Amino acid sequence: MKIIFATHNPNKLKEIQEMVGDSYQVLGLHDINCHEEIAETALTLEGNALIKSTYIHDKYGQNCFSDDTGLEVESLNGAPGVYSARYAGPDCLAEDNMHKLLHELKGSENRKAQFRTVISLIIDDEKYEFEGIVKGEITTERSGEDGFGYDPIFKPDGYSRTFSEMTSSEKNLISHRGVAVRKLSLFLSTYNTKKS
Ligand code: IMP
Repeated sequence: MKIIFATHNPNKLKEIQEMVGDSYQVLGLHDINCHEEIAETALTLEGNALIKSTYIHDKYGQNCFSDDTGLEVESLNGAPGVYSARYAGPDCLAEDNMHKLLHELKGSENRKAQFRTVISLIIDDEKYEFEGIVKGEITTERSGEDGFGYDPIFKPDGYSRTFSEMTSSEKNLISHRGVAVRKLSLFLSTYNTKKS
């Protein structure tokens, strides 16, 4: 069965195809000739994920899913949250976002934070939602070279290393996205079994 993942990112597409397995062929926006950027105008991760899945479902009439992720810092009342990608301004770099966050938390004792991913799935015209959370803390300085985004300053609970110091398979086992995608995969595998 074919399913569309509302992403332009080939790395995300590959990662999800590996996790979902062979029963579904996961196609990206590029594969359905959708080249536009879908505006993420909602105030929540749930809202943005739903905007993207609804847009693809309504325009292309296909089963699809989309995701949205944010870093939620406790002492900043959940910021940067839905604005994680553009915390330091539009078109900013990951480095600018980390710099701003470390500055905001300077001297702060409470450095608790969590990454949260929401996946919105529309299949056979029904809507479903899956969530993945990893709790941890924001370090006082960057450590590690790998990964992306806030990885060098996020240390998951129970680990002495940041996400940036882990291999991608180590990170996928515990990450917000890994948890959400495994919930999606489990749902799809059961769903597929019921239908076939
Ligand atoms: P997206 O919804 O997956 O595009 O994520 C939004 C933003 O959250 C990204 O631009 C990153 O700044 C941040 N982010 C999401 N996932 C991760 C992660 O696994 N590590 C570090 N930063 C992340």
